[in-house]
Amino acid sequence: MAEAFFTEQHELIRKLARDFAERELTKEVLDKVEETEEFPEEILDKMAKAGFFGVKIPKELGGQGADARAYVLVMEEIARVSGVASIYVSSPNSLSGGPLLLAGNDEQKEKYLRPVVTGKKKLAFALTEPGAGSDAGGVATTAVKEGDHYVLNGRKCFITMAPLSDYAVVFAKTDMKAKGNKGLSAFVVDMHASGVSCGKPEKKMGVIGCATSDIIMDNVIVPESDRLGEEGEGFKIAMQTLNTGRLGVSAQAIGVAQGCLDEAVKYAKERKQFGRRIGDFQAISFMIADMATKLEAAKQLVYKAAYMMDTRQDATLNASMAKYYASEICNEIAQKAVQIHGGYGFIKDYKIERMFRDCRVFTIYEGTSQVQQMVISGKLLKK
Ligand code: CAA
Repeated sequence: MAEAFFTEQHELIRKLARDFAERELTKEVLDKVEETEEFPEEILDKMAKAGFFGVKIPKELGGQGADARAYVLVMEEIARVSGVASIYVSSPNSLSGGPLLLAGNDEQKEKYLRPVVTGKKKLAFALTEPGAGSDAGGVATTAVKEGDHYVLNGRKCFITMAPLSDYAVVFAKTDMKAKGNKGLSAFVVDMHASGVSCGKPEKKMGVIGCATSDIIMDNVIVPESDRLGEEGEGFKIAMQTLNTGRLGVSAQAIGVAQGCLDEAVKYAKERKQFGRRIGDFQAISFMIADMATKLEAAKQLVYKAAYMMDTRQDATLNASMAKYYASEICNEIAQKAVQIHGGYGFIKDYKIERMFRDCRVFTIYEGTSQVQQMVISGKLLKK
C-alpha cells in the first residue's frame, strides 16, 4: 500500500539512505557515541555530502529540492539504525531550517541556511522555556527594540544541539502588553554573541550523542536584520514549523519501530527454548503480528501526511495524528521487542536496549502526545 505514495525516485532515495545507514552507522560507531556522548564529525560530513541535511531545502540554497516524502524516507531509514543520527538530519530540514524557509528573506536564507545545509554550521530551534513547554505561547524571553537592534533577555531550556550550534532561532516577546501567544517574534541569535551562554549538557535517557542544554540570554544585542518575518508573527512561525517537525518525529518513530521489529523477528528465529524457536510459540508470534500490524498502520499515517504536504493540502491534523500514533506505537513495539529478547534485551550489548531508550522522547518532544490530542480534537471540534 505504501507504494501508492511513492515514485521510483523515492525508492532510490530510500535505498541510498538505507545503504548509508547500514554502511556508516555500525555497532562500533554507535557504541562509541553512547560512551563518549559525541557524534563523530566525519560521519556528519558524510551525511552533509550525501545531501541529507538539505533533502527538502531548495536547490538554490544548496539543498536537494526534494519533497516531504523523500525527507520522510531518509529520516525513516537513518532512524531505523540510529535515532540520534536522524536528529541531525531533521534539524536543518525541519525545526531549525523551518522558520528561515517560512519567514526568512533571501539574504537571511543565504546567510544562515546554506551553511547549515552544507554541514558547515549548526542551527538550533529555541522555543521551550522553563515556564513555556506545552504552553508554547507562555514565552517570557523578551526582545526590546532599541534603535536598529533588539536586546534579548531570557532562558530557553531543553534545546537540542544548543551547545553545538553556531546560531539559534529564538522566539521572544516583542509586545509586552499582548496576552497569551500574541506578541511573539522570531530572531536568529548568534550563539557566540556577547551575553549568550549555554547551560551544562543534560544527562539524557536516550538519543545520546546530540547535546541538549539551556540557552541563557543576558542583554544580547540582535540586529533588526536578524528578525524573521514581521513583529508579532513568531507564534505562527513556530506552529507552522512544528507541523513539519511533527512529520519528522513521526518518520523517526516508524524508523526506530522498524529497527525494533527487525531485531525482534531475527531473535525470535534464532533463539531456541523448550526445543523450539521462540517464534514458534504463539505468545511470541502473536506479539510480532501485533507489532507489524500497528507499524504498517503508522506508516500509512506518516506517508499520507507527507503526501498531503507535497500536494499543498493542509496537513496540520494529519501530521499531528501521524506523530501521535507513530510515537506511541513505536514505544509499544520497542517494549515488546525488549520483552521478546528477555534478559538479553536488558543489557547494553544488544541494540534493542538503546532503541528502547531512544524512542521514549518521541511522545514528548515537538509536542507531547497530549498536545497532539489537543490539536486533533481542536480541529474536529472547532466552532
Ligand atoms: N499550524 C498553523 N497555525 C497554528 C497551529 C498549527 N499547528 N496551531 C495553532 N496555530 C495558530 C492558530 O490558528 C491561531 O491563529 P489565530 O490567532 O489567527 O486564530 C494561533 O496559532 C493560536 O492558536 P491557539 O489559540 O490554538 O494556541 P494555543 O496557545 O492555545 O496553543 C498548542 C496551542 C497546540 C497547545 C501549542 O501551544 C503547541 O503546539 N504546544 C506545544 C509546543 C511544542 O510542540 N513544543 C515543542 C518545542 S520544540 C522541541 O521539542 C524540540 C527540541 O529541541 C527538544
